[in-house]
Amino acid sequence: MKVLVTGFTGKVGSQVAKFLRSKDIPMVCGVRNVEKARDSLGDEYEYVELDFAEPSTFEGALEQVDRIFLMYTPGADLQFDIFLEMAKDKDIKHISYLSLKDVQFMPFIHHYKMEKLIKSSNIPYTFVRAGYFMQNLNDFLCKEIKERQRIFVPAGKGKTSFVETRDLAEISVLSLINTEIHKNKTYVITGNEALDFYDVAKIMTDVLNKKIEYTNPSVKEFKSVKKKLGEDEEFVNVVVGVHMPTKLGLAKGIKHDYEKVTGKKPTNIRKYVGDFKGKLDLENITT
Ligand SMILES: NC(=O)c1ccc[n+]([C@@H]2O[C@H](COP(=O)([O-])OP(=O)(O)OC[C@H]3O[C@@H](n4cnc5c(N)ncnc54)[C@H](OP(=O)(O)O)[C@@H]3O)[C@@H](O)[C@H]2O)c1
Repeated sequence: MKVLVTGFTGKVGSQVAKFLRSKDIPMVCGVRNVEKARDSLGDEYEYVELDFAEPSTFEGALEQVDRIFLMYTPGADLQFDIFLEMAKDKDIKHISYLSLKDVQFMPFIHHYKMEKLIKSSNIPYTFVRAGYFMQNLNDFLCKEIKERQRIFVPAGKGKTSFVETRDLAEISVLSLINTEIHKNKTYVITGNEALDFYDVAKIMTDVLNKKIEYTNPSVKEFKSVKKKLGEDEEFVNVVVGVHMPTKLGLAKGIKHDYEKVTGKKPTNIRKYVGDFKGKLDLENITT
C-alpha cells in the first residue's frame, strides 16, 4: 500500500500526511514545486511533482501508488478528468476525496462535478464532505484577527458547522487504510455544535485572553475594505460566496459521522483555539 497525498502543503493534506506517517503508512506527497517543498518542509517526506494544471506530471505522481488522498485545489485549467482517467488506467484501488457538506444541493460547484466524475471512473471512493474549517481562523481570517483583533467576514448572524482539519484527515486516512469498510461511502464531517462568529469571537477572547470581536460587516463593507487593502478581487468574491450559506442560515447542520466512524467526539473549537494559540501569534497584540 502506498498513498499519493495531494494538497500536501495545505491545511488538510498536511494533516493527512502527518496521520499516515504516525501509522507508518508509505506515502508520496504531490507538490507543484518539489525543491521548494523540500527546502521549507524538509526531507522527512518523499515528494513528487504534481500540478493539476499540467497533465505531464500525472504519470509520475501516480507511479507506484495504489491509493489517493485527493482534494480539489484552487487555480485555473485544472485537468482532474485526465488525472482520474490515468488513475483508473493505473489501477488505483481507492480515492478518499475531500468534498463539501451539502454538496448534493449545489450542482453548480466543482465538488458536485468531482464526485460525479469519481463515481463514473468506477474507482472505489470515500467522500469526506467537510463543514467549515476551524483552520480558516488561522488562514484567511488570521490577518484581521492579528492586526485588528476582529473576525472580519460577511457571515451575518448565521451559524456554521465548524470542523477541525485534523478530524477530516483522520477520517480520510481511515478510509484509505480500511478500504473495504469505507468503500463508496459518504461521510459528512462536522464538529458537535453549530456556532455563529459572535460565539467564536467570545471563545477566542476567553481562550486567548485578548478581546476579539466579530464585526459582522455587510458584503458591501467587506468588499470595500478588502479593495482598499489591495486584496485579490477574485479571492474576495470566493470568501463572500463561501460565507453566503452561513449568512442565509443554511450552514448550521451537524452530523455525527466522525463519532460513528472513530467512536470519539470531534474536536471542539475551544480546544482548537488553544492548540493553535501559537500560530495565531497574538502575543504581540496590544488591546
Ligand atoms: N476552507 C473550508 O472551510 C472548506 C470547507 C469544506 C471544503 N473545503 C475544500 O477543501 C479544499 C481546500 O483544502 P485546504 O484548505 O487544505 O487547501 P489549502 O490550504 O488552500 O491548500 C491548497 C493546496 O493545493 C495545492 N495546489 C494549488 N494549486 C495546485 C495545482 N494546480 N496542482 C496541485 N496542487 C495545487 C497547494 O499547493 P502549493 O503549495 O503548490 O500552492 C496547497 O497544497 C478545497 O477543495 C475546498 O473547497 C474547504
